[in-house]
Amino acid sequence: MTDEHPQPQTDSATLARSQERSDAIEADLAVHPERYRMLTGDRPTGNLHIGHYFGSLANRVRLQNLGIESFILVADYQVIYDRDGVGDLKASVDSVLADYLAIGLDPARSTIFTHSSIPALNQLILPFLALVTDSELRRNPTVKDELANLTRPMSGLMLTFPVHQAADILFCRANLVPVGKDQLPHIEVTRTIARRFDERYGRAVPDAPVFPQADALLSATPLLLGMDGHKMSKSRGNTIEIGMDADTTARIIKRAVTDADRHITFDPANRPEVSNLVQLAALCQGREPTDVAAELGDAGGGGLKALVTEAVNEYLAPIRERRATFAADPAELRRVLAEGNARANEIAESTLADVRTAMQMDY
Ligand code: TRP
Repeated sequence: MTDEHPQPQTDSATLARSQERSDAIEADLAVHPERYRMLTGDRPTGNLHIGHYFGSLANRVRLQNLGIESFILVADYQVIYDRDGVGDLKASVDSVLADYLAIGLDPARSTIFTHSSIPALNQLILPFLALVTDSELRRNPTVKDELANLTRPMSGLMLTFPVHQAADILFCRANLVPVGKDQLPHIEVTRTIARRFDERYGRAVPDAPVFPQADALLSATPLLLGMDGHKMSKSRGNTIEIGMDADTTARIIKRAVTDADRHITFDPANRPEVSNLVQLAALCQGREPTDVAAELGDAGGGGLKALVTEAVNEYLAPIRERRATFAADPAELRRVLAEGNARANEIAESTLADVRTAMQMDY
């Protein structure tokens, strides 16, 4: 969940190259799903919301359903890189798990696991740390932002987090990481580490690098704003959580910011708040935002909010129903997690064995 984090910039050449590569992969996914292994995940710091859903969760389900082998990481160790203590971690993990299952991630096809449960994954961090310099780490845009933001001293874990993410991606040899543009620098670190490992230690098997080059799959989804027109974030209370009930959802949308023009249009540059609501209704109804706006015509902010409320609640109703069933059965959630962790551990141990061979540490 990157919602409370700064959005670093990537230089335009890297961005263009990554976009081109991402488009080529997108076209290939349905044709050759067997070529890809996807990894992504979330920090379990609270309940997931519609920003997460339309920004990334829905896309994961799509990729899974295309037949792409998927690894979904609950990044519990990332909870502690910028805060003291873990809060109500187990409740957050259960909530994220319930969200995952409710939206259609299928544990038979997607390996759902917690970072801290996979010792061999974490052990990769040691050799990886030797492959990056401290100035490279300080140049990472997210780390740089954190350093510039002096509200608290930066932890060593925060400084090295691109390396942990490289371990997250490479432990299962994922070659596909669906991310937003802000995460591109981290994918670059992952590629660099994979390349340097190959250069420095060679290969356990000839012609087969121990680690693949991972690519970003850049999402085409527009960024949803919060109901107050600001960046969506839990701490601003401007989000609609996947697991909220219909009445709470209606109340939050009722408070949403609109403007004085009764004529509804889709014009994100000039009418960000109204357009954001139109966009949300359109996403829920699988329609074009301009069609939604045209249909609303002179309905005003009230009419717009009524439509958005209906669209969101209708879209989320079956998801919420499934979520309630899973949330009421923590034993089942833990069973799913235990299964995912067992599988992730098996893969991590096999990767670590190859790393040990390449590094001559297979005593
Ligand atoms: N940092 C990501 C987030 O906050 C979660 C994450 C951890 C991740 N490791 C990853 C995402 C590796 C992609 C790849 O949402």
